[in-house]
Amino acid sequence: MGKKKIRLGVIGAGSFSNSHLLGIKYAGNAEAVAICDIMEEKARKQAEKFGISDYYTDYKELLKRDDIDAVTLPLPDQLHAQVTVDALRAGKHVLCEKPMALNLDDCRQMIKAARETGKQLMIGQIGRYTPGFLMAKKMVDDGVIGELFFVESEYAHDYSKIGGEGGWRITPERHPVIGGGCHAVDLLRMIAGDPTEVFAYANGKVLTDWPVNDCTIAVMKFPNNVTGKVLTSIGCKRKYTMRTVIYGSKGTIIVDNTTPTLTLFKEEFTQMDEFKNLHQQAVELKIPVAINNHNFEAEVRDFCECILEGKPVLTDGVEGASTVAVCLAIVESEQKEEKIKLEYNF
Ligand SMILES: NC(=O)c1ccc[n+]([C@@H]2O[C@H](COP(=O)([O-])OP(=O)(O)OC[C@H]3O[C@@H](n4cnc5c(N)ncnc54)[C@H](O)[C@@H]3O)[C@@H](O)[C@H]2O)c1
Repeated sequence: MGKKKIRLGVIGAGSFSNSHLLGIKYAGNAEAVAICDIMEEKARKQAEKFGISDYYTDYKELLKRDDIDAVTLPLPDQLHAQVTVDALRAGKHVLCEKPMALNLDDCRQMIKAARETGKQLMIGQIGRYTPGFLMAKKMVDDGVIGELFFVESEYAHDYSKIGGEGGWRITPERHPVIGGGCHAVDLLRMIAGDPTEVFAYANGKVLTDWPVNDCTIAVMKFPNNVTGKVLTSIGCKRKYTMRTVIYGSKGTIIVDNTTPTLTLFKEEFTQMDEFKNLHQQAVELKIPVAINNHNFEAEVRDFCECILEGKPVLTDGVEGASTVAVCLAIVESEQKEEKIKLEYNF
C-alpha cells in the first residue's frame, strides 16, 4: 500500500496555480483531485494539463465533496478571507496564498474559523521555504554572526505587466507593501521577531497610473534593540529580487531568492604578522544555495505532513495576520507621516 496522500482541491486556475499544481505533483504526500475557476476555460485547461479529472466554476460545489481533505487558494487577495472561511466551515484544511487578507478584521475571521473548526489554516509565506533564507536563519540561530543589530530586506519586482486577471492587483486596498512587500516583512519577522514600531516614506514616480505609491521605504524597531528596514518597489526596472542583509556583531549575511550563493562576511583569526601576533580579518565566504524562489513543493509537502501527523503548521493564521499587521502599519505610516506602534492581539 502506498503512503497516504492528502487529497487537494485547488481554487483559482490563474498564473500562480501552475506553481501550486506542480508543487502538489512533486510533493509526494499530496494529490490534486479537483480544480476551480470562475472562468471555465481556465479551469478546464489546468485540469487537462495536470491530469485532474474534475473541474468546477463554483468553489462551493468543490467544497461539498467529502473526498477532498484540503484546499489551496491561488486566488486574488481580496477573496482569501471569504473562501478560507467557507472552506474551513466546510471541513477542509486550508493553505491560503499570501497576503493572508487585506485587513485585520478579515484575518480575525479566518483565525476564528480555524479555531472553531479545528482545521489547519496555513498562510503561504513562501520565503520560509527558500533555501538561502533558511540557511541564513540557521546561521543566525546558531550564533554564527553574533548579536543581531540590523536587518534589511527588499521586495523589488517590476509589476508594470502583471496586474492579475481583471486587474485585481491595482486597487488601493491592495497596497504593494501588503501584496508583495509582505514577503520581505515576513522574512525579517522570521529572522528578528515582531517589529514594535515602524515609520515609512513613499513615492509613486514610475507606475503613475496606479492608485497607490509604487515605492515605500520603511524603517522599524525589532525586539532586543535590533533595527531594520524594508524597501518595496513595484516600479523598479531590474530583475526581481528579495535581497536581504543581516548584520551581527561577528559577521554579516547577504542573501536573496535569485542568486545561487549566500555571502557570509566573518571576522576570523586568519593572519599572523612577523611578530607572530594573530590579526582578525573579515573573510568573505560564498556558500552555494539552491535557487528555489517559489518553493511551493516544500511548502505544500509541509502543509500535508502537518495534516497527516496532526502537527501545527509553520505559518498559521496568527503568523499570517502578524505579517499583515506590520504591512498595514507601514501603509498607515506612509499616509499619516507618523511613527506607528504595533500590537499583536489575535
Ligand atoms: N507566493 C508567491 O510568491 C506568489 C506569487 C504569485 C502570486 N501569489 C498569490 O497567488 C494568488 C493568485 O495570484 P495569480 O498571479 O495566480 O493571479 P491570477 O489573476 O493569475 O489568477 C487568479 C485566478 O482566480 C480566478 N478567480 C477569481 N475569482 C474566483 C472565484 N470566486 N472562484 C474561483 N476562481 C476565481 C481568476 O479567474 C483567475 O484565474 C494571489 O493571492 C497572489 O498574491 C503568490
